[in-house]
Amino acid sequence: MNFPIIAPSVLSANFANLEADFKMLNESEAEFIHIDVMDGVFVPNISFGLPVIQAMKKLSNKTFDVHLMIVEPQNYIQQFKEIGADILTVHYEACTHLHRTIQAIKNAGMKAGVAINPHTNISLLEDIVADIDLVCVMSVNPGFGGQSFIENTYKKVEKLKDLITKNKSKALIEIDGGVGLQNAKQLVAAGANILVAGNAVFKSENPIETIAQLKLVSRN
Ligand code: DX5
Ligand code: ZN
Repeated sequence: MNFPIIAPSVLSANFANLEADFKMLNESEAEFIHIDVMDGVFVPNISFGLPVIQAMKKLSNKTFDVHLMIVEPQNYIQQFKEIGADILTVHYEACTHLHRTIQAIKNAGMKAGVAINPHTNISLLEDIVADIDLVCVMSVNPGFGGQSFIENTYKKVEKLKDLITKNKSKALIEIDGGVGLQNAKQLVAAGANILVAGNAVFKSENPIETIAQLKLVSRN
């Protein structure tokens, strides 16, 4: 794979014209499309749900990277598979039986991810990291696009990279929140494989160019 993978977050897209934004994404170098599902319980915001993602799926063949910011995510695994999720990420903080939930996601035929909030210590992933395909390190408190990046994230990414190596895990490291041209390079240097970017892409003058630059800036 050609790292870093860029995963634009459609939370910052124009919901009144998703077709135009997906056309842009299809023409861009973005490999993943990051889809934020919020329930108003786990996070203090509500985004969109299954029927909207099902409609989005018709607009692109790219990898759908679905980030569930919901309680009881284990109850919806099959439904997310059916509407076309390729990667399904659940929050560490939302799962009492995380191991079981991860196995269920994989058994349903999706890649399994675990997201951790800014306060959650990397060491808590020690006994699950070998079983997962992706760790999403939240670099803002989840719930909203356009927030400022939390600087402590670099340290967490380095620790996570160590943990992944020690446990012979194949998990990819994804960074989510406040990512842009100003921090992409340092994040990749710390060990990030996937960069989620909402506002940095969709609020820029030339989103296709911004996506290309996010890939480039972090390679040099
Ligand atoms: C935050 C979401 C993010 C968000 C990122 O809760 O998980 O994916 O859309 O948006 P930016 O890049 O604008 O911080
Ligand atoms: Zn997200």
